[in-house]
Amino acid sequence: MAPPSILRDNEEGSESDIGEKNNQPDINWEELGFSLIPTDYMYAMKCAKGEKFSQGTLMPYGNIELSPSAGILNYGQGIFEGLKAYRTEHGRILLFRPEENALRMKIGADRLCMPSPSVEQFVDAVKQTVIANKRWVPPPGKGTLYLRPLLMGTGAALGVAPSPEYTFLIYCSPVGNYHKGGPLNLKVEDKFYRSISGSGGTGGIKSVTNYAPVYTSTTEAKANGFSDVLFLDSATGKNIEEATACNIFVVKENAIFTPAIDGAILPGITRKTIIDIAIDLGYKVMERSISVEEMMNADEVFCTGTAVVVTSVASVTYKETRAEYKTGPEMLSEKLRGILVGIQTGCLEDKKSWTVQVD
Ligand code: COI
Repeated sequence: MAPPSILRDNEEGSESDIGEKNNQPDINWEELGFSLIPTDYMYAMKCAKGEKFSQGTLMPYGNIELSPSAGILNYGQGIFEGLKAYRTEHGRILLFRPEENALRMKIGADRLCMPSPSVEQFVDAVKQTVIANKRWVPPPGKGTLYLRPLLMGTGAALGVAPSPEYTFLIYCSPVGNYHKGGPLNLKVEDKFYRSISGSGGTGGIKSVTNYAPVYTSTTEAKANGFSDVLFLDSATGKNIEEATACNIFVVKENAIFTPAIDGAILPGITRKTIIDIAIDLGYKVMERSISVEEMMNADEVFCTGTAVVVTSVASVTYKETRAEYKTGPEMLSEKLRGILVGIQTGCLEDKKSWTVQVD
């Protein structure tokens, strides 16, 4: 099959090459952070507007060629996903709830007028990408292979209208911790909002356009020693929503609270999983509005996401006030993280069939 035309001519790969690289990559697994390490292959599948995705292909990882008037470049018609492949102690490779990513991608695609791969196509493409890049899946305990599915308008158009052509692409990179340096010190942003409140906006989908607008806030916060920024709801400016790349939970007197999914915040797959795990452990979990004040008076705060997994929060600063929280191995967030990672890496029994074996 001919590779999709987004590939540059000199980068065309033959499918017969796929999977031939078995030697260990030359990287220090101990030093993985969350930055791009190019791997061997990526996956791409194209379809025209009004049609369905049918057949994709693996190809060597490399730059892609786009028309200057591609929908993604000009009007931000694009969404992405993030999921990980885990190498177990017994040499298996597992994915965690990949069909949830596929379903979320479909919701985002519908919102942005794009065709989307079926759940089966999505999961199969992820598996193919992992298998082709197997040597890049870090050893157990050293990290994971982060997969980045993208769905974007790649056809050329000048007017503001859905692109005439779409590309579903998956690339991957081995990763370690998203945040270096332990528990987070968050700054509450009180000038800019991440998304508009309510269900009419795009805060609840992984639109590429939701991310660059946070850079003003994160750049300033990081320059002042904070790890990340926590955004408030744009309707009242009083309730917490989410950080730049993760959901947030607060714990008070053994009850767990997290902002409800209302269209403005991302329906995180880790968020949903942590709620299930906490309920199974007997905790009361409430999804509702949480004011900044309530968070500042909490016993414990933590963030969840594919990239951050479960990361505890050491402090939150709102205007001139700084609240500090207990952190450490005895905290609930550590217990939840341990169970989640245990299931993801095949160390704990997967009673809910959340994991999917790749090979
Ligand atoms: C993920 O957790 O996969 C995310 O989407 C975060 C990403 C923006 C780094």
